Amino acid sequence: MNPQVLDPNAYLEGLVRNALGELLGEEAAVLPVSLDRPRQPEHGDLGLPCFPYAKALKTNPAQAASMLAERIRPDTLVSEVRPTGPFLNFRFHPKALAENVVRGILEEKEPYGPWASNGLSVVIDFSSPNIAKPFHLGHLRSTVIGAALRRLYRFTGHEVHGINHLGDWGSQFGKIIVAWREWGDEKALQKDPMRHLFDIYVRYQREEKERPELKEQAAEAFRRLESGEENEERAIWKKLRDISLQAFQGPYKRLRVEFDHMTGESFYEDKMEAVIQELEKAGITTVSEGALVVEFPEQKIPPCILRKSDGTTIYATRDLAALFYRRETYHFDKALYVVGSEQKLHFRQLALVLEKLGWPQAKNVQHVDFGLILFFNQEKGRWEKGKTRSGNAIFLDEVLDEAVAGVKKIIEEKNPDLPDKEAIAEAVGVSAIIFNDLKNGRIKDVKFDWNEMLSFEGETGPYVQYAGARLSSILRKAGSSVPAMTQSIASEGGIDFELLSDATPVLLTMMEFGPTLKRALEKNEPSILTNLMIRIASEIHSFLRDHRVLGEDPDLTRARLALVAAGRKILETGLEILGVTSPERM
Ligand code: ARG
Repeated sequence: MNPQVLDPNAYLEGLVRNALGELLGEEAAVLPVSLDRPRQPEHGDLGLPCFPYAKALKTNPAQAASMLAERIRPDTLVSEVRPTGPFLNFRFHPKALAENVVRGILEEKEPYGPWASNGLSVVIDFSSPNIAKPFHLGHLRSTVIGAALRRLYRFTGHEVHGINHLGDWGSQFGKIIVAWREWGDEKALQKDPMRHLFDIYVRYQREEKERPELKEQAAEAFRRLESGEENEERAIWKKLRDISLQAFQGPYKRLRVEFDHMTGESFYEDKMEAVIQELEKAGITTVSEGALVVEFPEQKIPPCILRKSDGTTIYATRDLAALFYRRETYHFDKALYVVGSEQKLHFRQLALVLEKLGWPQAKNVQHVDFGLILFFNQEKGRWEKGKTRSGNAIFLDEVLDEAVAGVKKIIEEKNPDLPDKEAIAEAVGVSAIIFNDLKNGRIKDVKFDWNEMLSFEGETGPYVQYAGARLSSILRKAGSSVPAMTQSIASEGGIDFELLSDATPVLLTMMEFGPTLKRALEKNEPSILTNLMIRIASEIHSFLRDHRVLGEDPDLTRARLALVAAGRKILETGLEILGVTSPERM
């Protein structure tokens, strides 16, 4: 029988926690233990900053490090415990490190495989485009970031409800109905619904200025739509909504984005009244200029409107109804809204309303915001806020097509004989866009630079995918595969892990997977994982540069193949969470 697999990171954290417990008793439980790679590798495999313990131990950080060192004995996994100034540094036995990391990855043990359920329910509201209004670049960001968070939370043992809160209700539908009546063309709609609806909506906005009667018609159309009657307006609304929903499926499929619930704003049409009554009953509403609102005099921010003076409801009303519904239905512990920064005030207002209601989850209702997408303005020679040919609107398919065409060109240049070129160009092109979005902190603006994002070098999706493809190619040459190597490890005396002693840097980087996922969760920040994937890819490229995998010595070859299989597997797992595929060749 093989010994049990340990996660060296978690194991060491346990040793530190025990030592802190011995020194401080229960007080130790609240102290952070953040093991990290020392800046200089000579200092050790992992280092523990001891600043947070000095105060509790009534001493300085260096002394705290020594006190902890005295209580942690080297063992079969940990070879060295050494205080260095305010840090406590550790080293692992290379063989034990290799065995635990490689086996952990291939046998899908935590943290490398799906984590055990933690019983927490999380709602993630993302993508949420507006039907019949243009999909814009902010929606692309929301879609990509939200999909990554949905996978990240699911992988780490949460019960996740990914919701597309479609903008399929509201006064703009009055305008869309009028536009359809005036200029709608059945054939054009069937052919390219997104573009046709965009065109007539733009036309409406233009003509409204000269024909004020359109405005009245639009208001009337929305009133009739909101009446709940099965009238002509409702029929048009339903038709345009259904066809738009259908049209979104294409790009969603290409981006490999899935939702658990497609409940848009219209879903709350009949649920708002009850929620408004609850808020009134709770005594937190006031009437201001004929509108029903919740005011926030202390915070000095504008009131949250529940019902306008003309009796109609708004976006915020539906979001509150959605919160009530999601609490009852999904019993969420946390609710994330992946929406651009321009809606900061709106989400602040929602959270404050919940606070006034005394909801315990109020502080876990979080706006996961993000920056803009920037384009290079050739004339002015600088990056600026996105305007594509059609204004701020984009047609998602168009953007994806452009990326795929770019990759196809590169493949034709570099590797024209590659089998299955089309499929690979699709996988790499779409991934490049996702990766470009997820590689920097989400609050940062994203530069939309085709050359950079499609490059096979640098911090790009193709670069990481290429590392995976290289590993697959080595396994293929050896007549092996990830499952075959997993088998091989399980068999008695399968691999001599001592032979991977020269792979410590790549193993240590792969071992950061668990703590990285935790940090990404804490900050709702997929870029933390993206960056680890770039570093793992780069460590793999350097290992392959300096070492020959398929050599004379069969034992060494087998050990290195196990490492190669583990590398392939962890890249696949990490990229999968980000929403990026791992082609076998490219
Ligand atoms: N449809 C909105 C927009 O495009 C985003 C919706 C975000 N989700 C929410 N629950 N408010 O601006």
